[in-house]
Amino acid sequence: MGYDAQFRVWRGDADGGALQDYSIPVNEGEVVLDIIHRLQATQTPDLAVRWNCKAGKCGSCSAEINGQPRLLCMTRMSTFTEDEVVTVTPLRAFPVIRDLVTDVSFNYAKAREIPSFTPPPGLGPGEYRMQQVDVERSQEFRKCIECFLCQNTCHVIRDHDDNKPAFSGPRFFIRVAELEMHPLDTADRRDAAQEEFGLGLCNITKCCTEVCPEGIKITDNAIIPMKERVVDRRYDPIVWLGNKLRRRRP
Ligand code: SF4
Ligand code: SF4
Ligand code: FES
Repeated sequence: MGYDAQFRVWRGDADGGALQDYSIPVNEGEVVLDIIHRLQATQTPDLAVRWNCKAGKCGSCSAEINGQPRLLCMTRMSTFTEDEVVTVTPLRAFPVIRDLVTDVSFNYAKAREIPSFTPPPGLGPGEYRMQQVDVERSQEFRKCIECFLCQNTCHVIRDHDDNKPAFSGPRFFIRVAELEMHPLDTADRRDAAQEEFGLGLCNITKCCTEVCPEGIKITDNAIIPMKERVVDRRYDPIVWLGNKLRRRRP
């Protein structure tokens, strides 16, 4: 059975904005993105929203619903009571372009900083041979749809723009872990993870894991193992001695 929902949607741009109230019909089985589309079609044709797949796979429709980072297309209207006001706001950690659309280019800049897959010398494309057991751990991280909800949630950058230059964020900690756990990768990214990507700023609160729509265990399966690998490297007495001797050489 349909009903009229009360929506409160943030409207504005980089110069500022405000929440605006709408009353809008809802049909059985709909998701929040359906309602946003109905608003565009019937009341606010200039409402800006980013989306592509409406299937939880492109990662475009990230926003905050009642203050929780969510995908608009994967949030069912049946999760709210009929008299509940549904508030939809843009991601808080990134600059607003207009209405529900934010500028997430911070994430693409961070992606470019991570050294890419480095296979052994002489091994050409098509010559890689791996068993399923070899990729069991890193495969989980390939499920990432780059929705950046984890980035938006992480308290290290959510309210602290000044931390952004020194912190890549959880999405890129899983990228580093994926490469570190890849059986054919030869690069060592452990020092960079600590010194350039800001792994040490993460205090394993697990907030990123809680919002991941792909259910990736970001903290337990990527961040904590990476922290352990960094500790192994930096505080291993033999590695420490080796580094010390290397530094002494002219
Ligand atoms: S576990 Fe680390 S990366 Fe994830 S939200 Fe907490 S501080 Fe951020
Ligand atoms: S790790 Fe999860 S929350 Fe983060 S960008 Fe990927 S899919 Fe989104
Ligand atoms: S529209 Fe693609 S994830 Fe929502």
